[in-house]
Amino acid sequence: MEDIPLHRMSFDEIDERRNPRPHEQEFDRVVARAISRRGFLGVLAFGSGAAAMGLGTLMGSTSARAQTASRFAFTPIAIATDFAVHVPEGYAWKPVARWGDALFSDAPAFDPEKGTTAAGQARAIGENTDGMELFVIDGREVIAVNHEYVNLDVNLPGNPDGLPLTPEDVLKLQNAQGVSVMEVAQGADGWAIVVDSPFNRRITNNTPMKITGPAAGHDLLKTEADPTGTQVLGTLNNCGSGRTPWGTYLTCEENFNSYFGSTDAALELPAEFKRYGIGLEGGYGYEKFDPRFDLSKNRNEPNRFGYVVEINPADPASVPVKHSALGRFKHENAAVTLAADGRVVVYLGDDERGEFLYKWVSSDPYTEGGDTSSLLEKGQLHVAVFADDSTGKWVALTPEATGMTAAEIAVHTRLAGSRVGATTMDRPEWVAVNPVAAEAYCALTNNVNRGVKPNAGGDLTPVGGPNPREKNGFGQIVRWYPAGQDHASADFTWDLFVMAGNPTVHQDAFGGSANVNAGNMFNSPDGMSFDSTGLLWIQTDGDDSNEGDFAGQGNNQMLIGDPVSGQIERFLTGPNGSEITGLLWSADRKTAFVGVQHPGGSWPDGTGLPRSAVIAVWRSDGTVIG
Ligand code: FEO
Ligand code: CA
Ligand code: CA
Ligand code: CA
Repeated sequence: MEDIPLHRMSFDEIDERRNPRPHEQEFDRVVARAISRRGFLGVLAFGSGAAAMGLGTLMGSTSARAQTASRFAFTPIAIATDFAVHVPEGYAWKPVARWGDALFSDAPAFDPEKGTTAAGQARAIGENTDGMELFVIDGREVIAVNHEYVNLDVNLPGNPDGLPLTPEDVLKLQNAQGVSVMEVAQGADGWAIVVDSPFNRRITNNTPMKITGPAAGHDLLKTEADPTGTQVLGTLNNCGSGRTPWGTYLTCEENFNSYFGSTDAALELPAEFKRYGIGLEGGYGYEKFDPRFDLSKNRNEPNRFGYVVEINPADPASVPVKHSALGRFKHENAAVTLAADGRVVVYLGDDERGEFLYKWVSSDPYTEGGDTSSLLEKGQLHVAVFADDSTGKWVALTPEATGMTAAEIAVHTRLAGSRVGATTMDRPEWVAVNPVAAEAYCALTNNVNRGVKPNAGGDLTPVGGPNPREKNGFGQIVRWYPAGQDHASADFTWDLFVMAGNPTVHQDAFGGSANVNAGNMFNSPDGMSFDSTGLLWIQTDGDDSNEGDFAGQGNNQMLIGDPVSGQIERFLTGPNGSEITGLLWSADRKTAFVGVQHPGGSWPDGTGLPRSAVIAVWRSDGTVIG
């Protein structure tokens, strides 16, 4: 990996370089502990010849109920390895919003070979669509959708390695990311963007925002350009999403660390930067042309990213708000629900190997039409501690518990989690809350470091609990049931809804749980949303080589799971190279909107550059889809 330039690395590979495998001695100790841990767990789960019994224990009641009648209104589809989207018989799809499609009529036409310009990009759909949510505003359907990152080769196809050579190039990349807000409507040709809708808006890496919560105004957030430490330009690496009961959009800053670098190769960085994977080399070359991203000129700038950002889609002039109270880490999504007494509960994953799962509980309840302005500012952030006996606790990240100030907890949240012994997880991706049962799910996408390497803070990653497999390349979905059926409870019980695996290659735990078979197998669950009937739609972001451990799993896909029976079936496959991420339904539930990120080939146009896109999927008979 040392020979690969940073801009060619995945986010995981960048993390590995920043935090290489520990020195031999330390590594040996970690392995020894992991193995003894696994020995203990063997009694519970994967003892010799007892895999099925063990899975039954971990799987709760799911596998026992796997024989009930299917609730799925589709015929499952086979895997695919081509550069196309496939849906079940009786369903259809079409692209609605491709990278470069105009939001405003003054946007230049997209060039199939060159893409767009920096100025044009600020008036058009960004690249790499990810999390998204629907808002019905004055009877109109408005989608807010994230643009997670940029594929350099695709955005700057004329440049060597796609690297920026001018400030204009950097601006083009910056304008291709952030968030798009777009009105959509059905015309003669089906769903389309309403060009020039008053709700349309682009939010980029440079859009002014403000910071609230304990970190606002703290020294760690002050820069020369913003001595108040409260005004930030832009949002970075917008991954998953959330929506509040009061009609605002939540966009989550994930791999923000890779945007920063230093033009001074000898610069010393604060110790906390290591935990967050912030180093001297940037992943996009921003630091060479935009001093804001040059750590030698702006050392505090990274402290202003890694938050959950709230956007009001009903007011295109509104200033987005970064909520530091919800912590700073590689935020995946923000799954919002209400406690029994109406307080706002937000589940939050930190997507890095061996990082944590969090929960926010507001101080005050949400009341319809009431004041919502402090619900993501006043409250308490917690972190999850899982026990092997299928119980768990949410531990409050208070100054008393952590020895850190409230502002320090908000900025260096990972360090606070370590201090209270949070459970190191197999990369928490999306959390989804079941609308018809008191339970929540988190996709733990994979973690090849499980049991062999600590996280970037030195916390061990023992095999056990909801992370039961060493060098876990397949991933699993953990589910928890809050005590008293109240999401504000400090206690919960948990099980695994599914352990992904490959039963055609492995006969042990890597073959997957009982609800995985040769016909529905997949790897690396990531995006998740519940439909209105309580079915869990699962999207994957994994290895689509269709070889080795992943033979027979094909391209990334979307499956639907039944939380009651445990049944999982494949509904959609994406083009080779792509990840399927982002999901919502039209107001009438007759259309599902699905995101296709970083497709390969020339999808979907069949010529020129590949274009990530939001597609519409519907039933040909016009009935509801979820
Ligand atoms: Fe952007 Fe963890 O996915
Ligand atoms: Ca994701
Ligand atoms: Ca992922
Ligand atoms: Ca992605």
